Amino acid sequence: MRTKIVAGNWKMNLDVRASQTLAQEISMFVEKMETPHTRVIIAPTYTNLYPVYHHTKLDHRIEVAAQNMHQAKNGAFTGEISAEMLLSIGIKTVILGHSERRQYFNETDEALAAKMLTILNNNMEAIFCFGEVLEDRKSGNHFKVVESQLKNGLFHLSANDWKSIVLAYEPVWAIGTGETASPEQAQEMHAFIRTVISAQYGAEVADSVSILYGGSVKASNAAEIFSQPDVDGGLIGGAALVAEDFAKIIQGTL
Ligand code: 13P
Repeated sequence: MRTKIVAGNWKMNLDVRASQTLAQEISMFVEKMETPHTRVIIAPTYTNLYPVYHHTKLDHRIEVAAQNMHQAKNGAFTGEISAEMLLSIGIKTVILGHSERRQYFNETDEALAAKMLTILNNNMEAIFCFGEVLEDRKSGNHFKVVESQLKNGLFHLSANDWKSIVLAYEPVWAIGTGETASPEQAQEMHAFIRTVISAQYGAEVADSVSILYGGSVKASNAAEIFSQPDVDGGLIGGAALVAEDFAKIIQGTL
């Protein structure tokens, strides 16, 4: 059975106190939940990783992830963070390739392919994001775009490497817009993603990778989206900043 995952991407929100408060509130909800098989991940911004992870009383089931990481070991890369730095504070999971990184910070498929190697060399895990923009969807190019993002970012890896990958399909037109992909659209794309992976790596890899959906997931629509057979949970933006909403979304994986 594939692992269900609900991950909150806090993006560039909340100062240190507010991050700790939110983490603790989420933790209190999770403590009471009976979702023993769902992984719960929160991804605060860099400055808040350490205080949230080490100085906040969190339920043991809550994992803390970073929102990005540089591929190089160290060096003259002003403003960047390395794998070693994250590992030194116990962070092993990193969101990579978010559309906002691709769009505003020119993160390319090539850079992501290199970041993936750094993840694997350091025994870390990536939540690898990808998804088409509205024009691609309108012109019917969305499958092609998604396939090329997958191939360029991930297909240099071995079948075994896929144990360290979680995929997050996030159609850019649904991020922060309130417009969610319908459960059918999400399912259609997730099934397609498995077909593409299966053609390269075989059915076992394709069937075992968790694929999250992201883009305007809310407490009110999560359960329906997550009930699709190829949707294994969600990567949540706005609604992850409200503990009660995030908790309801986690419940949606039941
Ligand atoms: P929203 O849930 O705010 O649409 O953001 C989704 C997202 O980008 C998660 O990474």
